[in-house]
Amino acid sequence: MIDYENNSAVVVEYKSKQYKVLDKATSGQLQAACDIEKLAAKDDGMVEVSYPVALAVKYVLVVTNKDKAAQAQRDFGGRCFTKYNGRVDHLYFAMTGSDADIGEGAYLASYTFTKYKVITDNTTTLTIHPESALDKSIHDGIFFARDLVTEPGNELYPEEYADRISRVLSPLGVTVKIMHEKFLRKLGFDLLLSVGDGSDRDSYVVVMEWNKAEGAPLALVGKGVTFDSGGISLKPGKGMGDMKTDMGGSAAVVGAMHAIASQNVQVNVVGIVGLVENMPSGRATRPGDVLGSLDGQTVENLNTDAEGRLVLADILAYVQQEYEPKQIIDLATLTGAILVTLGHEAAGLFSNSTGFADQIKSAGALGGEQYFRMPMGEVWNKMINSPIADMQNIGGPYGGSSTAAEFLYRFVDKETPWAHLDIAGMAWTDGPKDATPKGAVGFGVRTLYNIACNMSDESGIDEDMKYY
Ligand code: BES
Ligand code: MN
Ligand code: ZN
Repeated sequence: MIDYENNSAVVVEYKSKQYKVLDKATSGQLQAACDIEKLAAKDDGMVEVSYPVALAVKYVLVVTNKDKAAQAQRDFGGRCFTKYNGRVDHLYFAMTGSDADIGEGAYLASYTFTKYKVITDNTTTLTIHPESALDKSIHDGIFFARDLVTEPGNELYPEEYADRISRVLSPLGVTVKIMHEKFLRKLGFDLLLSVGDGSDRDSYVVVMEWNKAEGAPLALVGKGVTFDSGGISLKPGKGMGDMKTDMGGSAAVVGAMHAIASQNVQVNVVGIVGLVENMPSGRATRPGDVLGSLDGQTVENLNTDAEGRLVLADILAYVQQEYEPKQIIDLATLTGAILVTLGHEAAGLFSNSTGFADQIKSAGALGGEQYFRMPMGEVWNKMINSPIADMQNIGGPYGGSSTAAEFLYRFVDKETPWAHLDIAGMAWTDGPKDATPKGAVGFGVRTLYNIACNMSDESGIDEDMKYY
């Protein structure tokens, strides 16, 4: 362990594009290291100073100037950690109050999931000094979401997921209500249950209440398909394993509830997640089946792989019935089409309220989570009319993200500001990116947390969204 107080670490001050070594004891070493690596100011005023392993000082110190936005600093800290991770035993980030965000980025980038590794790799230890520079309560929410997304389908099936939510959130003061399949049948969650019918695992809905303020709650709704095989409309084998991440929307909701509760944010928020496994079997829903729903509308299921919207429709209806929320946000890894449109750069944002959409975009920008507003309208809505039921669960071959959003909108009260975030391209990253290591991102936690912290009622409904 590096002993900061006894000067075995080095403090570098960066001012006017010059670095000054403040710790005399190792200044020669540091200077040599800087010369070898030809370090210079990069990133518009940010400088990284590294000690090569050859000099037997195995850590990196990062210093920045003060005027960068928090997210830029986080990203920078994350990149620094990733660059030296695995190459040195120990990374030491000496933070002043104003560059704590760099340490935060490094911490977020240091996330690992080693639960199923018997043989462990050499890892780099990260120290943030002082420890108080790092407020871990939001990160625990992000890390919890990442854990959930990383877990494979055989370990995190609906029942285990529901249990885990209760085990982790109840001690934080969140009221966790678990609704079992039998109860859901009684209540009429026919769309949601139709998705789980092919699975040997029971389906669950979990409600998380955090009621610390007067007035109607903000509702956070999440798709929690613990594995999406496609059902009878089976997916091709290539990449099917990625579909363990099909509960990324629900993980964002659970992670955000974690952050909100551990920060004791004085707001009224209700989270609800639909936990199901989509599998083919003799009991599975057939393409062509007509299904009922919690709010009474009927759905012709033309593709059992378009299952996320069925899960969301019933929990959207339920949360409105029971909680009359003032605003609703749902998150889901809903369509491959959003990946075609936006890649891994932004989540699709669909809303009936420009005011609400803008709030979400700003809340996301604060945490480096980007949203791009996608179109909705009657023309897309009509595409899901069915000849034999009220609607069908797929549109035509094109515009798939918008027709999916229109499906959800049919279950939303037209006077309530609502936003649907299609995060199919954002829940998982194949390579490290800024403050996110390769793998589960925990996307959405920070956006939802920021929204909860700055709740605003002034959203309104767009005139052209009042069809239907
Ligand atoms: N979970 C998938 C969407 C998805 C695709 C998430 C890629 C993450 C990465 C969803 O349930 C699905 O299968 N959607 C279908 C809909 C189609 C049948 C209308 C799709 O996008 O192909
Ligand atoms: Mn699917
Ligand atoms: Zn899915």
